[in-house]
Amino acid sequence: MLEREAEEKEFWKKVRAEFLLDPDQVFFNTGTLGAMPRRVFDRVVKHLRLTAEKIAEWDYYGADWIFGYQPWTEIREKVARLLNCEAREIALTENATAGMNYISNGLDLKAGDEVLGTDQEHPGGESGWLLKARRSGVVYRQLPLGKPINSPQEVIETFVKAMGPETRVLAIPHIVTGSGAILPVKELCAEARKRGIFTVIDGAQTVGQIKVDLKELGCDAYYGSFHKWLCAPAGNGFLYLRQDRAGEIWTTLASTQWNNQEDHGFRLSQRGTGNLSLLFGLDEALDFHFELGPERVYARIKALGDYLRARLREIPGIKIFTPLHPDMAAGLTVYNIEGLTGNFIQDELWKRGRLRPRSMGEIYGVRQSTHIYNSFEEIDRTVDILKDLASGR
Ligand SMILES: Cc1ncc(COP(=O)(O)O)c(C=O)c1O
Repeated sequence: MLEREAEEKEFWKKVRAEFLLDPDQVFFNTGTLGAMPRRVFDRVVKHLRLTAEKIAEWDYYGADWIFGYQPWTEIREKVARLLNCEAREIALTENATAGMNYISNGLDLKAGDEVLGTDQEHPGGESGWLLKARRSGVVYRQLPLGKPINSPQEVIETFVKAMGPETRVLAIPHIVTGSGAILPVKELCAEARKRGIFTVIDGAQTVGQIKVDLKELGCDAYYGSFHKWLCAPAGNGFLYLRQDRAGEIWTTLASTQWNNQEDHGFRLSQRGTGNLSLLFGLDEALDFHFELGPERVYARIKALGDYLRARLREIPGIKIFTPLHPDMAAGLTVYNIEGLTGNFIQDELWKRGRLRPRSMGEIYGVRQSTHIYNSFEEIDRTVDILKDLASGR
């Protein structure tokens, strides 16, 4: 057992060394933007350099040197393998926000139709619906979630009770940005399906953090970012559209493929000249993730998150806003200490230990992301400092 533990420790130490992160700094803010492994960075830079130096060699006979016009099916196939869907169901977008807007803008809804969301959305999950409501008279209703949420059942009950004859869309996050709560998306999508409600899930925080199996979840649309937990360079996201509902979504950015009814993912990926170097960075990040082994990655993230939440409970005055239910949390933990603020904790952890979580403001303290480049020892160091802060030292 001890030998296995030592091997695991050695393995993750080597993984940490694959990242360009400064060895004297500890990064706990993957929930905003993940750190890039060296090989991802190198792949981006290599292609960027090629375009700077050799663009005259681009003869248009082979593959493009830019993103935005071609289908890039090989890369969409890798994404589809990760998420268990078909490549033609995947559109490559700039980020999660773009994915959300393609749905809210592209779905035909009339005044009085209702969209259900939560009261804990990221702007990237709600703004498109707020715009739609103002412009088209659609009713956007945000249902209250607990902070923390105590059980999946609590969320299911809230939503099932609210689904009525006017409800057309269920638009909710898979992982809540401000608490790290994993919502019971599979159960909610099944309830929505029974009632003919279109389901769109915000997966900005999921891909690379927890397993996402789109067939199993049973949603109609799902969007997310690759630049957080998958460690791709910023500017990489996706939108999944289930094949049998994809035809209902008009494109927002029209280019030559605007009416491609065979490959909806390509139709919605086409956005004019884009940065192919960044897309190659995504390709490399996908390879890195597959080589590490997705299940191993998710297990490590969950173990670190569970360990952090368990250790936090030793601290007097701690308030944890992430669910303590074992199925409802993984690598995001949000907490505060009575009498302190997020900015204070964020700044003290940096000053005293070069530890970098993210402030969530006055009430909700900080959000600490635990990813594959973090360790149990870094969590111990965090808790030591938090104990000092809690006792006014
Ligand atoms: C739940 C959630 N949705 C949407 C977004 C927006 O993601 P992006 O900036 O990649 O569009 C975020 C970013 O933190 C998020 O946490």
